[in-house]
Amino acid sequence: MKKLFRLALVSSLSLLCFSCYYDELYIEEIPEIPEGQIVSFNDDIQPIFIQEGKDCTACHDASVANPDLREGRSYNSIFPDYVIPGDGENSEFYQKLPGIDHPISVGFVLSVDEIALIKGWIDQGAENN
Ligand code: HEC
Repeated sequence: MKKLFRLALVSSLSLLCFSCYYDELYIEEIPEIPEGQIVSFNDDIQPIFIQEGKDCTACHDASVANPDLREGRSYNSIFPDYVIPGDGENSEFYQKLPGIDHPISVGFVLSVDEIALIKGWIDQGAENN
C-alpha cells in the first residue's frame, strides 16, 4: 500500500512538472531577425498584443497586470521600465513573455516568430518606430 502511494505521488509530481513546462518554448529555438530587417513597434509589435485568441490586453490593460499593452499606451508602459535597449535577451519584457516564462499560464503562447520579432525590436534599440 505504501509503495502504491509512493508510485502515485511520484507520477503525479512528474505530471505536475510536465504541465508546468509543456507550454514553454526552448529559448534556443528563437531565430534571429535577418540582417537589414527593421522591426517596427507600431506595425510589427503592437499587433502581436491584440490578436484574437491571444489577446494580452485582456489582462494587460492597467487593471489586472502591468505593463499596459493597449494600443497607444503600450510603448510608454514597456519603455524604459521593461527593456534594456540593445539587449533583448536580458530584458524583463522578453524573459516573461508567454512562451518564455510568463508568470502565470494564460492558455496560449506566442509563436517563435512573434517572440523573435519582440526580441529583435529590443535588440535594435526598442525604438518608438
Ligand atoms: C489572463 C491574463 C493575462 C494574459 C492574457 C497575459 N498576461 Fe502577462 N501577466 C499577467 C499577470 C497576472 C502578470 C503578473 C503581473 C505582476 O506581477 O504584476 C503578467 C506579467 C507579464 C509580464 C511581466 C511583467 C512584470 O512586471 O514583470 C510580461 C512581460 C507579460 N505579462 C506579457 C504578456 C504578453 C506579451 C501577453 C500576450 C501575449 C500577456 N502577458 C498575456 C496576466 C496576463
